[in-house]
Amino acid sequence: MTNKYMYFIANWKMFGVLNSLNTLNRVVKFFKNFKKRKSLKIIYCPPSTLIDPMSKKLRGSNIEVGAQNCHEQDVYGAFTGSVNSSMLKSVGAKYIIIGHSENRQAGETDKSINLKIKSALKSRLSVIFCIGETLKAKRKKITKSVLNKQIKAGLKNIKNNKKIIIAYEPVWSIGTGIIPKSDDLFKTISFIKKEKKNYKVLYGGSVNPKNINQLKSINNIDGYLIGGASQDPKKFIDIIKKTYN
Ligand code: PGA
Repeated sequence: MTNKYMYFIANWKMFGVLNSLNTLNRVVKFFKNFKKRKSLKIIYCPPSTLIDPMSKKLRGSNIEVGAQNCHEQDVYGAFTGSVNSSMLKSVGAKYIIIGHSENRQAGETDKSINLKIKSALKSRLSVIFCIGETLKAKRKKITKSVLNKQIKAGLKNIKNNKKIIIAYEPVWSIGTGIIPKSDDLFKTISFIKKEKKNYKVLYGGSVNPKNINQLKSINNIDGYLIGGASQDPKKFIDIIKKTYN
């Protein structure tokens, strides 16, 4: 059981059309009653195409909306296919995921992540900054140095900032159904908190209703970044309920 203030962030990735917003009805209804008893924050990060309609739909629900990525620069430019942080803010995003491993694997660099975070902060978005080691790095036992490098480079020249939340997402856990051993996860979260004092640190990677009891027993985690399971309102609600059971 916990009474901690926890974040539940839904990462819809490249899934969803306008009709998918109907699945939110159930979550809105649930949250209306639940939040009277518990303190928690729910944030949905849909594809950019759904930020505007989702923000409108969720108005008054206390559920907030975030984006999944942005361009490095916060002003307009000739970058076909891109959107910047202020454009995302203008359609209702309050948060933004930056540095997700799916983007890192597609070529996003630490330097680019650093610029994106700066741009997002300038646009007054809160940042969900993702870090995590690959399976190869884990096997080589270099997790700490990988995370340290990602933190240092990603947050270079950025002062301690309450608008940044770190999400630890081991690459080998994302979408695989495998989560870290509790003891390892506790130690890694502690390590990150020691590196960046006063930062909230979330866990992400295959969070689901089946493993949430194990995850919630790790008491230094401040919430979860949830991919696959967040598309199913029943699973998402189950995760929240079980966290507080
Ligand atoms: P998953 O994704 O919950 O589907 O593993 C998490 C994420 O990529 O943020």
